[in-house]
Amino acid sequence: MINYLNNNFENYIEELKDLLRIPSISSQEENKNDMIRCANFIAEKMRIIGLENVNTFETEGHPLVYGEWLHAPNKPTILIYGHYDVQPVDPLDLWDNPPFDPIIKDGKIWGRGTSDDKGQWFMHMKSIEAFLKVKGELPVNIKFLLEGEEEIGSPNLTKFIPKNKNLLKSDCVLISDTSMYAPGIPTITYALRGLTYMEVEVIGPNRDLHSGSFGGGVANPINELAKIIAQLQDKKGKIKIPGFYDDVLKLTQKERDNFKRLKHSDKEFAKELGVNQLQGEEGFTTLERLWARPTLDCNGIVGGYTEKGAKTVLPSKASAKISMRLVPNQDPKKIAKLFEKFVKSIAPKSVKVNVWDLHGGFPLLSPLNDKAIIAAAKATERSFGKKTVFTREGGSIPIVVEFMKQLKTTPVLMGLGLDSDNIHSPNEHFSLESFKIGIISSIYFIEEYSKI
Ligand code: BES
Ligand code: ZN
Repeated sequence: MINYLNNNFENYIEELKDLLRIPSISSQEENKNDMIRCANFIAEKMRIIGLENVNTFETEGHPLVYGEWLHAPNKPTILIYGHYDVQPVDPLDLWDNPPFDPIIKDGKIWGRGTSDDKGQWFMHMKSIEAFLKVKGELPVNIKFLLEGEEEIGSPNLTKFIPKNKNLLKSDCVLISDTSMYAPGIPTITYALRGLTYMEVEVIGPNRDLHSGSFGGGVANPINELAKIIAQLQDKKGKIKIPGFYDDVLKLTQKERDNFKRLKHSDKEFAKELGVNQLQGEEGFTTLERLWARPTLDCNGIVGGYTEKGAKTVLPSKASAKISMRLVPNQDPKKIAKLFEKFVKSIAPKSVKVNVWDLHGGFPLLSPLNDKAIIAAAKATERSFGKKTVFTREGGSIPIVVEFMKQLKTTPVLMGLGLDSDNIHSPNEHFSLESFKIGIISSIYFIEEYSKI
């Protein structure tokens, strides 16, 4: 199988490029047809490699793609999940190469979706292909599911799961949509942060006003919004929303010790990001802050005059998008309510405040002693020739918790990305070496898991 992979690797890259050329941006209405095109492209690939019952399921949003191979009686079933949707590409002028015209440079493939997540789930397609082409069969049962709405909170897959429990029934769910701890370090991720994403709008006077004639006599929504945001955290980095920390699961000493053993360099981290100093919640190390503590960040803010030059105006409204990353056992809906209550309580009477809960997801903590996790650690140890490390991750994949809760399946997060891959940012890329080792890891995982 490894020979087959080596002989065909160049073709895999070309196939991946075709997939990357489809601008499957889930959040933009103008890409709706590209989403359908991408789903059909994937369904065709599934058929070609020998998956059966291949189907694209229409939803109220973007289609789901499903294929299976279920000819290993008495053997476990692996559900493989990935997302074919990608993030928007703005600001376009910061890309060295067009986002949907992938190129190979410096041993990496560059373009939107290379690492998050097309390049990563494509590895599993190629591992299945290797089994079916070389051996004519797989030692386990496979269900392959791809969605087109992960980057917008998986609204329709969330509804699809409870209605299709039998279709998705599995012993574990294999996902490559996370990062390695560092280049060349085999990594299994056992925890993800959750998310609550809010929008706040502050409304003042009934129209934009001359800032000279009216300034000083009426509240400025931008000023008031800024004050509200400033009151959400204190100087020590603690979030001031009452009740916010109530359900936070404390890190155990064992986990804190494990994090320490990973030897994170704050100095190098700061240097790589181009900042003089790191900043975060007092009393926690950087890895603890990133992986196991909840946060609050403003993602965007608009209001008033933002074009070139000056315009003296007192705007009638301003708004901000604010997200909170959550940790076990925080509940995204509960946090949204606490946020809304607090924001409304601190806003002055001189403005009107609207608060919306845009979307969210639960944090994940998966069992480290499950057979699937043990098989995955063994598989990556074999493919990398190094000991596997177990990490948490600061990002979110909310649907994983739904799989775990509703299907009682074990998540295996076998990520081959790197934090330096520029996901959600210009110049996203994925290492071709990781791509190859990921295919091998997938082959080994299927082998190891079939032995349990
Ligand atoms: N692949 C990421 C999750 C991720 C990010 C894993 C960083 C490891 C490191 C995923 O596609 C993603 O970006 N998720 C969103 C989810 C949100 C839109 C509900 C996120 O974390 O912002
Ligand atoms: Zn992703």
